[in-house]
Amino acid sequence: MFICDSLVSPMQKNKVAIVGYGNMGAAIANRIKSDYSVFVFDQDRKKTKNAKGLTVKTTLKEAVTETNIILLAVKPQDLAKLLKELTTFIHDHLIISIAAGVQAADIESALGTDVIRVVRAMPNMPIGIGCGICCLYAGRNIKTADIAEAKDLFETAGAQVLLIDDEDRMDVITALSGSGPGYYCYLRTQKDFDLASIHAQYVETATKYGFSKKEAEFLWQGTGPSTEILLEKTGQSPEDICRAVTSKGGTTEEAIKVLQRKGSLKEAIKAAIGRARELAKDTHEKVKRSQS
Ligand SMILES: NC(=O)c1ccc[n+]([C@@H]2O[C@H](COP(=O)([O-])OP(=O)(O)OC[C@H]3O[C@@H](n4cnc5c(N)ncnc54)[C@H](OP(=O)(O)O)[C@@H]3O)[C@@H](O)[C@H]2O)c1
Repeated sequence: MFICDSLVSPMQKNKVAIVGYGNMGAAIANRIKSDYSVFVFDQDRKKTKNAKGLTVKTTLKEAVTETNIILLAVKPQDLAKLLKELTTFIHDHLIISIAAGVQAADIESALGTDVIRVVRAMPNMPIGIGCGICCLYAGRNIKTADIAEAKDLFETAGAQVLLIDDEDRMDVITALSGSGPGYYCYLRTQKDFDLASIHAQYVETATKYGFSKKEAEFLWQGTGPSTEILLEKTGQSPEDICRAVTSKGGTTEEAIKVLQRKGSLKEAIKAAIGRARELAKDTHEKVKRSQS
């Protein structure tokens, strides 16, 4: 399932537009800004007010026109509206979406062209300190050079990258490693926090969803141990990190709700997968409505 390719590396760094400068958009932008020309746009101007070393744009059009890559870092619920707006400005961009749940085919269809190149990515918060992981799924028009470009971008951002060839797995990965740092931090605040037991439950759940033991351990390393490094390096509390990665109505929130009711980690992961799938359905319907 995982393809490890480290052979292809683009010769020249590209211009990247990051749309949505929230928790994840800002983390990625600030990790790649010395290697890429980064243009950022957020509808909430307060978010980009203190951005340094990046080109802040005040409209979507200005942010994307001169770039080769557009990284979509808005919440899944906001994606359909953004894609509709984007149709006017895209040319031969490589589109990378980090939105939980949203299918590559819906992004292709919303952008209204048969040739659009879309990569779905699922990074996680430890990317901000260079020890995250990111899973990539290539949409149907993606060429080898595109996936190499996306891989290079996330490696530059500090992630170990895994390519996956089954899109259904992206929802499971979202629940395991994308949301993982959030609910790991929640568990870390509980009196009965037991690292060995959480590790065992995580790996057992990942293997139940079809990952090999090796893959499950890889995902765990990018979740538990990487979140510990994030806590240590940033000096933030587990509560701070939990707040930062838990968006309202998102997959992490769904997992935490289960844990707050004293549900098991396995049930929490299942709930996060369910939420990723609901978000996918919601975006699919929004895209269809916007086309009719
Ligand atoms: N946080 C994580 O750990 C994590 C991990 C993996 C993947 N992701 C994915 O990353 C994406 C972003 O998550 P996040 O936690 O960074 O969310 P966030 O902090 O809410 O950031 C999203 C930003 O995008 C802005 N925005 C919304 N619509 C826009 C538009 N049309 N044009 C420009 N900006 C727009 C939002 O503005 P408003 O505040 O005004 O809405 C907000 O500032 C989500 O799709 C999530 O599934 C997140």
